[in-house]
Amino acid sequence: MTEQILKVQKIKNGIVIDHIPCGLALKVLKILGIERDIGSTVSMVMHVKSKYGWKDIVKIEDRFLEEKELDKIALVAPTATVNIIQNYKVVKKHRVKVPEHIIGIVKCTNPKCITNQREPITPEFYTVSKDPLIIKCRYCERDMEADEIIENII
Ligand code: CTP
Ligand code: ZN
Repeated sequence: MTEQILKVQKIKNGIVIDHIPCGLALKVLKILGIERDIGSTVSMVMHVKSKYGWKDIVKIEDRFLEEKELDKIALVAPTATVNIIQNYKVVKKHRVKVPEHIIGIVKCTNPKCITNQREPITPEFYTVSKDPLIIKCRYCERDMEADEIIENII
């Protein structure tokens, strides 16, 4: 769509996180640690029309993602597609996937949980349901839902 091309330019190298549920682009930037100057050009569009309704898009130039970061994106934006761009071409397209087992990515909201004690151990969760997203702490069995998960990504 010409209208969209005018809104955000194509990038030469980097990643395009597409099909982010509307309104969550800023959360995606936050979990990737993009809050201050990170030395790469970042562009974002919120509330753009797509084949499947409204979406947000984030483009980060000259940056690549680790497996852990893909898992974090899946927890915040389960519908997202991560496109790897090289020399203007999409060379890889990942549909992110909510992991079955979440280790060291989300902090348990139960202050009494063993993972929040003075000598903390790495938090671990199992995915109970993907839609709606519900995860359960391996240690205290607390369930956490999408909104809480987003706020507690480490
Ligand atoms: N894109 C970009 N810069 C490029 C190439 C692509 O910013 N050099 C963006 C496109 O604007 C789009 C996303 O990356 O938002 C995916 O590109 P592409 O696979 O070509 O688009 P679609 O086929 O529409 O993707 P999908 O089927 O995943 O919706
Ligand atoms: Zn816990």
